[in-house]
Amino acid sequence: MTWKLDYFVHDTACIDDGVRIGKSTKIWHYSHVLGGSRVGERCSVGQNVMIGPDVSVGNGCKIQNNVSLYKGVTLEDDVFCGPSCVFTNVLTPRAFVERKDEFRPTLVKKGATIGANATIICGHVLGEYCMVAAGAVVTKDVEPFALVAGVPARRIGWVSHDGEVLGPDLICKRSGRRYRETPEGLVPAN
Ligand SMILES: CC(C)(COP(=O)(O)OP(=O)(O)OC[C@H]1O[C@@H](n2cnc3c(N)ncnc32)[C@H](O)[C@@H]1OP(=O)(O)O)[C@@H](O)C(=O)NCCC(=O)NCCS
Repeated sequence: MTWKLDYFVHDTACIDDGVRIGKSTKIWHYSHVLGGSRVGERCSVGQNVMIGPDVSVGNGCKIQNNVSLYKGVTLEDDVFCGPSCVFTNVLTPRAFVERKDEFRPTLVKKGATIGANATIICGHVLGEYCMVAAGAVVTKDVEPFALVAGVPARRIGWVSHDGEVLGPDLICKRSGRRYRETPEGLVPAN
């Protein structure tokens, strides 16, 4: 167990040169952060996580065990990545064709949740506070506050900031916060 200045790195984890890690972040067993990456403050990086190279993880993110964040993936603040969820960065890979300059970026916006074992096909934006169900395969952009599930992932409802599935009244049971549907998707009403 090693505290480095103001963040924690387990002795089995490997942090390459040129990595920035924010205050109070914890990086657990066998994880690897590659050069040029930045992990924000107060993050939890579980066991066997790979980040980088050149990946940006915002503040307050929780990355569960067995997640790889490849080059091209960006997590804004407060993103939750469930265990063994999968990001991709090449759309049509072949072992024998070099596609390193064909990486498609994936942007996961503030507060989003990705369920266990979900797969995110590269080149898409996961909107603020959206929720991807366990095992879903995301093949297109996800609207803010959308709850998406299945293969391919489709919207099955809306969720609140606090992650409550919203009923027809669009009022969050936990916070009382109200929402309204617009042609652009769900927005907070107050
Ligand atoms: C998607 C999710 C949030 C829905 O929760 P819920 O609102 O309590 O859902 P319900 O159990 O009432 O199911 C609603 C419907 O969605 C379906 N559904 C639920 N989860 C699903 C999933 N992961 N994939 C596909 N369909 C799913 C249900 O079968 C049900 O369908 P039906 O109406 O045809 O019967 C939840 O099932 C989920 O996947 N959470 C992620 C958990 C996770 O990965 N945590 C990681 C950290 S431990």
